[in-house]
Amino acid sequence: MSSQPAMGVDEAIRTRRTHKVYGPEPVPRKQLDELFELARWAPNHHLTNPWRFRVIGPNALARLKDADPLGAAKLDRAPTLVACSVVQSDDAEQNEEDVAAGACAVYVIMLAAHARGIASYWRTPAVLRSRAGRAAAGIPEAEHVLGLLHLGYADRDWQPPGREPPARFVTYLG
Ligand SMILES: Cc1cc2nc3c(=O)[nH]c(=O)nc-3n(C[C@H](O)[C@H](O)[C@H](O)COP(=O)(O)O)c2cc1C
Repeated sequence: MSSQPAMGVDEAIRTRRTHKVYGPEPVPRKQLDELFELARWAPNHHLTNPWRFRVIGPNALARLKDADPLGAAKLDRAPTLVACSVVQSDDAEQNEEDVAAGACAVYVIMLAAHARGIASYWRTPAVLRSRAGRAAAGIPEAEHVLGLLHLGYADRDWQPPGREPPARFVTYLG
């Protein structure tokens, strides 16, 4: 049985914000499972299901910190971390599409989390670009890293950074 999101799609899109400060309470596994179940409905060409999500447990977190001692403190900012990546093949076109599909899946998680009162932060820490960091998170060489998704419960609202009006980026061609 899934928990019912408290808001509609438009409101979720407008009011989701990147949160960088979280309380200590991790997101329960049941809720994470619900978010991953939703992620798999993201569009993906040829139904490659290219996304991979690895929930960082205590041992993996320790390995990540060892891989980048300088960035270690930042890994404690959120109680729940998910390494997000996509499987890559020898087909460059498919790879490009799969990265796009994977980004859609990450956004599905962020929106669905927000609608359930769970805050998020899509981060691209240097540690996941390093061989040691990827190994710490169990990400094979053949996967493209999308980022480290921070999830948790935030106690304050953030103002949205300004956005350009559609007229700046939309062209209706004749
Ligand atoms: C692919 C991607 C990577 C990001 N990486 C970082 C990051 O490494 N550090 C950071 O502070 N924010 C990162 N962000 C979050 C953006 O900074 C944030 O979405 C932006 O400031 C807009 O704020 P909002 O999410 O509240 O609308 C990333 C966002 C995306 C989509």
